[in-house]
Amino acid sequence: MQLTFDWLIVLENLRRGIMVTDVTLQGPAGPRIIYVNSAWLKMTGYGRDELANQTPRLLQGKHTDRAVVASIRQKLLNREVFHGQTWNYRKSGEPFLMNWYCYAIYGERPKPIYYVAEQEDLTELETLRMKQRLLVNPNDADALDFFSVLDEWKAKRKKS
Ligand SMILES: Cc1cc2nc3c(=O)[nH]c(=O)nc-3n(C[C@H](O)[C@H](O)[C@H](O)COP(=O)(O)O)c2cc1C
Repeated sequence: MQLTFDWLIVLENLRRGIMVTDVTLQGPAGPRIIYVNSAWLKMTGYGRDELANQTPRLLQGKHTDRAVVASIRQKLLNREVFHGQTWNYRKSGEPFLMNWYCYAIYGERPKPIYYVAEQEDLTELETLRMKQRLLVNPNDADALDFFSVLDEWKAKRKKS
């Protein structure tokens, strides 16, 4: 099996969003984004040139679950894999349900050299699931919360 191949073409053509950051978890300047693939750009609406000196926090907003994002640091420091879901925001301001795995990449040395995230937009799938839940129980609180976030955005977009 050969290991020398065009890995960048492979990354750029993966169906999931990929983000690579440096390993500075302390302070507001980190973790700094080093690379995102084309699927990530398509999902978020950002251009690659807009990501200089940015952190993944640029995706966060009003309905981002602080408890979910707060657990990333501890997981990474414990050398565990983070998996979570929360509301993130495209460049346009549109909320979407981000589902992602995040973990450290180790080189030869014991210290991590990068953090990497595999990210996908679950909004469409979750919309179907939440619609079904409302059919069973029209007062389902999680489903009502889910649609209120999307409706808030639709109302805002209509106004502007
Ligand atoms: C590789 C990587 C990918 C990340 N991706 C996201 C993401 O897609 N959405 C998000 O809300 N936070 C993401 N984060 C988390 C934030 O960068 C940050 O670590 C988190 O908000 C906790 O830090 P804070 O409490 O200082 O904000 C990611 C972090 C890393 C290291």
